[in-house]
Amino acid sequence: MSTIKCIGILTSGGDAPGMNAAIRAVTRSAIYNGMTVKGIYRGYKGLITGEIEEFKTQNVSNIIQRGGTILKTARCMEFKTPEGRQEAHNTLVREGIDALVTIGGDGTLTGARIFAQEFNYPVVGLPGTIDNDLFGTDVTIGYDTALNTIMECVDKIRDTASSHDRLFFIEVMGRDAGFLALNGALASGAEAAIIPEISLEKDQLSDMIEFGLRKSKNSSIVLVAESEVTGGAIGVAERVKKEYPEFDVRVTILGHLQRGGSPSAQDRIMATRMGVAAIDALLEDQRNVMIGIQNEQIVYVPFSKAIKNDKPINRDLLNTLRITSI
Ligand code: F6P
Repeated sequence: MSTIKCIGILTSGGDAPGMNAAIRAVTRSAIYNGMTVKGIYRGYKGLITGEIEEFKTQNVSNIIQRGGTILKTARCMEFKTPEGRQEAHNTLVREGIDALVTIGGDGTLTGARIFAQEFNYPVVGLPGTIDNDLFGTDVTIGYDTALNTIMECVDKIRDTASSHDRLFFIEVMGRDAGFLALNGALASGAEAAIIPEISLEKDQLSDMIEFGLRKSKNSSIVLVAESEVTGGAIGVAERVKKEYPEFDVRVTILGHLQRGGSPSAQDRIMATRMGVAAIDALLEDQRNVMIGIQNEQIVYVPFSKAIKNDKPINRDLLNTLRITSI
């Protein structure tokens, strides 16, 4: 018999489509298992200030299809301090919350890990980030929707790129991870992707141009992952203007539109499965784990592994992109 009678749930860091589906699944699974649920607003910030509301099943009705997060989110600096975390713990004790489910990316799980260790407190994490950069799970909540958004945007840019015979550099999000750029390029039929995982190994721009970009085509599209090491789309375009002035170059930065929109079927299903698994994990006395999905199966990944290990990019995909872009 689990000693957990009341759980708190929060979303933190950058929002991601599918977070609401996860909130719904966690809430309903907890209630199904006889627990009380408290929604904590604005991530760790709400934990410190006590912005908390009890959630019944109807609080999460009609949200599975909505982007963003009904719990709001924030990047909370105070939670990085021992004083802030002490305040957060005081709130949990005051509210009678026995365990936390946190939904977010790397920063959220890092905070969760420190907090769980400091107070010997049960925390289970769900990977919610469009970046897909958490180790131990094949995909993260929000990644598939963001990828589809990128694909739709690139399709539109292609119309104007080919009409003008231009070379477009399109910057996508990913905070130092190339999953969105590489798979976005594959999905949209872009000519190349410039990603941080490869930046230190070779000069991807000159490699791409030497390979014969635009030999058989008049327009080209290159997805660039945002990152200091890639230089971002603006940095790459500046270089092209100087080194290859024959190209008519344009830049588009997709920005935060990548984080919005109704979640895809895959994100909704995955978030729902993971949300139910979070409650199962707590009932099994698991703590300090992130729920992941590997080969369609739910897995528990220790926070230490999910955060610390760099999730490797599938390098075969670079070759697939090269072959299909000739
Ligand atoms: O982690 C998600 C993410 O969208 C990253 O891809 C991006 O670098 C960052 O958040 C942007 O954060 P903010 O919304 O705080 O500007």
